Formats: sequence, C-alpha cells, structure tokens
Amino acid sequence: MPYLSSDLRSDPQGDLDPRDWPSFRAQGHQMLDDMFDYLETIRERPVWQPMPDAIRARFHGQLPLAPAELSAVHEEFLQNILPYSNGNVHPGFMGWVHGGGNASGMLAEMLAAGLNPNLGGRDHAPIEVERQIVQWMRELFGFPATASGLFVTGTSMANLIAVLVARDHALGMDVRRSGVAAKPQRLTAYASLDAHGSVRRALDFAGLGSDALRLVPVDAQHRMKLAALRNMIESDRSAGHSPFLIVGSAGTVDTGAIDDLDGLAVIASEQRVWLHVDGAWGALGILTPEIAPRLAGIEAADSLAFDFHKWGQVPYDAGFVLVRDGELHRKAFASPAAYLERETRGLAGGSPWPCDLGPDLSRGFRALKTWFTLKVYGLEALGRTIARTCELSRYLEQRIAQSSELELLAPVSLNIVCFRYRCSNADRVNARIVVDLQESGIAAPSTTRINGELAIRAAIVNHRTGHSDIDALVDTTLAIGRALTAGLEDHELEAAYHD
Ligand SMILES: Cc1ncc(COP(=O)(O)O)c(C=O)c1O
Repeated sequence: MPYLSSDLRSDPQGDLDPRDWPSFRAQGHQMLDDMFDYLETIRERPVWQPMPDAIRARFHGQLPLAPAELSAVHEEFLQNILPYSNGNVHPGFMGWVHGGGNASGMLAEMLAAGLNPNLGGRDHAPIEVERQIVQWMRELFGFPATASGLFVTGTSMANLIAVLVARDHALGMDVRRSGVAAKPQRLTAYASLDAHGSVRRALDFAGLGSDALRLVPVDAQHRMKLAALRNMIESDRSAGHSPFLIVGSAGTVDTGAIDDLDGLAVIASEQRVWLHVDGAWGALGILTPEIAPRLAGIEAADSLAFDFHKWGQVPYDAGFVLVRDGELHRKAFASPAAYLERETRGLAGGSPWPCDLGPDLSRGFRALKTWFTLKVYGLEALGRTIARTCELSRYLEQRIAQSSELELLAPVSLNIVCFRYRCSNADRVNARIVVDLQESGIAAPSTTRINGELAIRAAIVNHRTGHSDIDALVDTTLAIGRALTAGLEDHELEAAYHD
C-alpha cells in the first residue's frame, strides 16, 4: 500500500470544488462542445476500431496519488478513450441489441451527476421523477395502479427481480429467512428455447438451479409452442415438481420473435403460475401501432422486464421492472433496519422507498435521463424511430433476397436479421466476415447460431441508422465474402473491402 499523504497544508481549503471557477467553467464548456462535436460528426468516424497496444498500455498506470489538471485528464479521454469506445452511438453499429443513446439524455446525465441524489429512498423530487415514470409505464402497459416499478441496470437484473418475487410468492415469504433448501417444493420454470440466457442465470442466482428451467420448443416463427408448454407443465407436476413460472419473450435475442403472450396468459392462469415477460427491447414496440397488437397479453403479465437503453435510446444504463402486485414485490425485498427508519415527515418520509423493491440500497438517478428522453422527443416520435428500425430490417431482408450470394437464416420478425454469405466452410467464413466487417469500421454486426449454423446477425436498434448504412453492410459483406473465398491475402483483403 503506498503511503498517502494527509498533509492538508498544501490544500488548506480541503474540499474538491474548483479553486478557479471561471477557468473550470471554460473547461467544462469545452468538454461539452467536444461531445456535441463527437455526436454531430459521428458518421465521419469508424463504427469501431481495435485499441492499439500502446493505448491499452496507458490503462496499466500507477495509482494517481498526485492531482492533475482537469484539461490534461480530458485530453487523455479524447486521445485514449473516445476513439476506442463500443461504437453503438454510430449508425453502422448493428451488433447484439444496443441502443444509440441521445444528446438530450446525455445532458440529463450531467444534470443527474451534478445533483448527485441517492434514489435508494427518502423524500425528494428525484424519487418523484422515478415514480412518475413508474406511473407512465403502468399506463403504457395496462398495469393496475397498485403495480410497482423500479429502475435497475438492465433486463438481466429486472428478470432476476421478477424471478425472486415469483419464487417468494410460490414458496411463501418465510423462504427469505429459511432459504430454498428448507422447502419441500421443487420449483420448475418454463421459457422458450430461444429465451435469453439471463433467465437461466436468474434461476441459478435465485438458488433454484438453472436445471429448474425447462426449455420449450419453438415453431417456425421461433415462438414458444403452447401445446408443448402445457404438456411439459403437466408432466412435471405429475412427476412431483412444482411449476411456478412461465417466462414469455417479447422479442427474442436471436431473431426478435414475440411469443403468443395472450396464449401464455391463459396457460399461466389455468396452471396458476406466475407469468413474467422478458421484453428487454421488444416491449417498447408498444409505442408503434404496427407492433402493439402483437404484444397483446402483455397487460396480463405478473411482471415485465425491459430496457429504456435499447429501443428507448436512453443512454446506458436504464433497465426497468414492473410488478403487477406492488405489495408482493415490496414483501420480497423490504428489510427493516434501524438506520433506515421511516418517518411520516422530514427527509426520512416518502415510504415505501425504492430500496424496498430491489437489492440496491444506494441508487443513481437513472430516471432523469429517461424522463428527459421521453419528454423531449415524446412517445410518438420514439415509436416512429422504432418503426423505422423495423422498416430498415425489411429493407435488409429484401437486399439479401436480391443477392444469390446471400441467404436469410431466420424469418424477420422485428428489427433483427440473421443471414450469411453462401460458400463452403460457411461457419468459418461468416465468422471471419463479421470480424473483418467490425475491423473495417464500416459496419458492426455480431454473430449467433440459427439451427446450429453461424449467422451474421444485424440488430437495427440505433435511431441514426439509415438505408445507406444497410447498403454499406450488404456491399461490404459481399466484398469480404468474395475476397475471402477467392483466397486473397490479408493485405489484399483490406484493400478489397474499401474499394
Ligand atoms: C431478450 C433479452 N433479454 C434480456 C437481455 C439482457 O438485457 P441487459 O443487457 O439490459 O441486461 C437482452 C439483451 O440484449 C435481451 O435481448
């Protein structure tokens, strides 16, 4: 451990506020302008570029014991961080399911950090902002006034919270003291084969074991087969298990399939099990008249998880969970402590507090960037950006259909397109195409496997993506595919992609 000087003589004021506000203000304005420039000129940059070793090595530095000028640290940010970010702000980013963020949300994030409130609890306006969004989401998804809601990091955490509430509901709240090992029931849960891995992990984290998750087969549209679900629940029950949870997907990660949520709601009610919907990004499809009818049944869910940071374009991170029975939700998490005593007046008022609804006690002001985004753009415009990403996916589907060198690997349900370059050794070649596409800086899709075959997977989520980005993806994929199958050397490949 290095020796940390506590000599305050060199810093008699002792606090961390600027000594020279005018120059700090000027530097702050410069930083803001640099970020505006970054967003305004985003198309002029590569989507992503690998970090050179020399830059990476700069993050293996010594503990910063001595102070540095804000301007110098900002310069390091400009040189070593900004050019090597994830790339999801760029319109050519199509990997995984990443939102593009937005400039108003960015500003709100700065306001939130300046205000620096702790949204674990207490009585203050930032919590009312979060409650306002809870109320809007109840309204949007047709949940009752008694439903609870909470901002979390992302849908992985929201799914975990839902699984914990459903588990405690099934086993009784005393399981919070006794633990699942003390209970005789062997709980089982059901989700489609295409459900996101966070559902399996949630069962693991909940102490039920990931084997408790039964994966239900899917139809040609990648939606859960309802008859198979019913049979699996009944045969588990006959074998002495206790089915407790169905997880429906509103937008599966691989293909964007939406399960028949109405049908799942009927089975959940018939079988007396909890219905959770993982709507990570697809749930916000409710904002477009074209997708909303396909989400019918979402209003009957016992809980719903989704992210504002995907199709909602709120800067990371902004996950959300809604639970129909808010009191049950509170009982699954609230934990009294002398130092968290509530009052009816004063700062310790305003119970229940958000910390009663999830594992976090200290919580940041995620609600503010979401509140700004929803208010500044309005839900109708956000819905139009969602519809546009689906329209672009259909355009990509068409371009694939027009090329004899490309093939579609799964039906296009929303905004995800899985395809590949036709050739021998297709898995290996297509994996290489994706890496080369990413390193070209032109487009950044990711990969997945569809029926065992490696697919190039383009998830069009970013509000900035346009037809020219889809054309660039297709044209560069073809150029790389042709070059690879022609056996060009690496340096020749590089030239071929940029032709
Ligand atoms: C269907 C689905 N569920 C859950 C998740 C996990 O969400 P997060 O990354 O916000 O934790 C994702 C992420 O893409 C997803 O697509």
